[in-house]
Formats: sequence, C-alpha cells, structure tokens
Amino acid sequence: MKTIIDFQIIEKQSFPRAALLKLKSTTPLPEICGGQFVNVRVDGCDKAYLRRPISIHDVDYQNNTIDLLIQEKHEGTKTLCALPVGAKVNIVLPLGNGFTMPEKDDNVLLVGGGIGIAPLLYFAKTIHDNIQGKDAMNRVCTGVHFLLGGRTKDDLMLLERFRSVGDVFITTNDGSMGEKGFVTEHSLWNTMKINKIYACGPMPMMKALAKMAHEKGIWCEVSLENQMACGIGACLCCVENTKEGNLCVCKEGPVFNIERLLW
Ligand SMILES: Cc1cc2nc3c(=O)[nH]c(=O)nc-3n(C[C@H](O)[C@H](O)[C@H](O)COP(=O)(O)OP(=O)(O)OC[C@H]3O[C@@H](n4cnc5c(N)ncnc54)[C@H](O)[C@@H]3O)c2cc1C
Ligand code: FES
Repeated sequence: MKTIIDFQIIEKQSFPRAALLKLKSTTPLPEICGGQFVNVRVDGCDKAYLRRPISIHDVDYQNNTIDLLIQEKHEGTKTLCALPVGAKVNIVLPLGNGFTMPEKDDNVLLVGGGIGIAPLLYFAKTIHDNIQGKDAMNRVCTGVHFLLGGRTKDDLMLLERFRSVGDVFITTNDGSMGEKGFVTEHSLWNTMKINKIYACGPMPMMKALAKMAHEKGIWCEVSLENQMACGIGACLCCVENTKEGNLCVCKEGPVFNIERLLW
C-alpha cells in the first residue's frame, strides 16, 4: 500500500556525481517489490517543485531502512545528493509495478547500465529470498548474474554489494574495467545459457538488449525511466505508447515485458 513517510538520512556514501543514502523510517515499511520506486520531495531547492522518481536500491525491514542510489543530473538530484546525514526526506512509496519473480530453475541475467544498476540489487536479493536461499556455507546460491555496464570504471559503483548477491560481469565503453564495449557485446552471451533478462539503463541500451532478446528468443523485462511528475497515474506525463495503447509508466510500469512495447 502506498504511503508517505518522513525518512531521516542515517548514512551517506558519496561518489563523484552520485550518492548512496540510507534512510530510516520511524514507522514500519510497507511491503516493497524489487523494481518499484519512490517519489522524493526535494526540500531546499526552489527550482524542483515536483518530486523526483528514484528506484529502491535496497530495503532492510528489520531496521526500517531503504537505500537510494542517486546520480546528480540537474537541480533536484544535486540537492538530494548534497543532503547531510540527519536530514529529513519526505518520500511516497512504494510506486509502480516491480519485476516479475523468475521460476526456480531460471538462469537469470540482470543487466544495468549507468545508474540503471540501482533497482537490480534489491530485486536480486528478493529472488534469493523467494526462490534460492543460501547453500550449506550460508553463501547466496548462484543462478542470478549481473551484467553491469558503464562508460568508464567511474560509472560502476558498489560492485562489492552486487558481488555479495551474484556473479558480476562488467563492460565499459573505454575498456577501463571489464570487457571493452557495450553490454550486448559481452562474451557471456556466447558461453552462458540465459533464459530471463531483466534490464534497467539508458534507452539505447535497453532497445539493443530487447532486439537481442527477440532474436535469441529470451524472455525479457525492462524498467523504463520516462519523465515523471505525480508518480501515481494522475498527470499522464509519463505515457508510453505500447501495443495496448498509451500506458502510464509510473502506474502500469516502470517494468514492462518487451513483448508489450512497440520496440
Ligand atoms: C522509475 C524511475 C526510477 C529512477 N531511478 C533512479 C535512480 O535510482 N537513481 C537516479 O539517480 N535516477 C533515477 N531516475 C532518474 C531520475 O528520476 C532523474 O534523473 C531525476 O528526476 C532528474 O531530476 P533533476 O532535478 O536532477 O533533473 P531535471 O532534468 O531538472 O528534472 C526535471 C524534471 O524532469 C523529470 N526527469 C528528468 N530526467 C528524468 C529521467 N531520466 N527520468 C524520469 N524523470 C526525469 C524530473 O522528475 C523532473 O520533474 C529514475 C527515473 C524513473 C522514472
Ligand atoms: S507521472 Fe503522473 S501519470 Fe505518470
């Protein structure tokens, strides 16, 4: 159920042009699915009168915290990234429909480009909690793999967090980390049998992945980042023209199976 909560920032990790915020609620968190997002009020910025949509990067129900990974773009996100520990942040959550849970035997690839890596961590954790659990050594079982792409190694943040949940494969456009090239060019596509792809990132990356998934006959869901305002299906500013007509990405998405899209 959607709710509005005044969170407090209790931890912050800064990166060049990005920040990871850990936000604590004094009330219990609502149930959250991987791939859902929040709409954040930007206090202290007179140019950002609309809330900003941000993916839920991680959730800790025991401690009532959520993590948001925010990249500085313009005024709104710059203001959020500059907030200090202790600041209050007013958030509407959870919004949209998350990714579809895979089946037990699926070999799953989660593909993130740039800040599109944000929603993949919590979704991968929920896959393990729902389906795979841990092995006898208390290690998270594999079957969930990440393919993370950036322009340079500086775009790739929090890799240890991802490695604690699954194998991590990397591409960078300049070859400064992992294989050189785009995520669609990684050698794993020739060696690994993948039967479900989940992706979030820049539109050209997701369209190239969708084309590849169509060609290879692989099931694929993508998380769209259309411009948003209300986040609840009221203003129609986030509409995507799909095979089912115009759909609000904030309410019907942001996650769509590629078969529903006109790509
Ligand atoms: C479902 C969803 C999840 C997202 N998750 C993340 C995340 O986890 N981390 C992160 O850093 N960014 C994320 N984004 C993108 C983020 O919302 C935009 O970068 C941010 O709104 C830009 O605000 P700004 O004030 O800095 O820039 P401005 O360009 O000044 O924003 C102006 C307006 O455009 C909208 N807007 C601008 N760019 C985008 C965009 N790419 N997508 C949607 N709306 C936009 C803003 O909501 C605002 O109303 C997500 C977007 C969506 C739709
Ligand atoms: S953001 Fe208002 S309808 Fe989607």
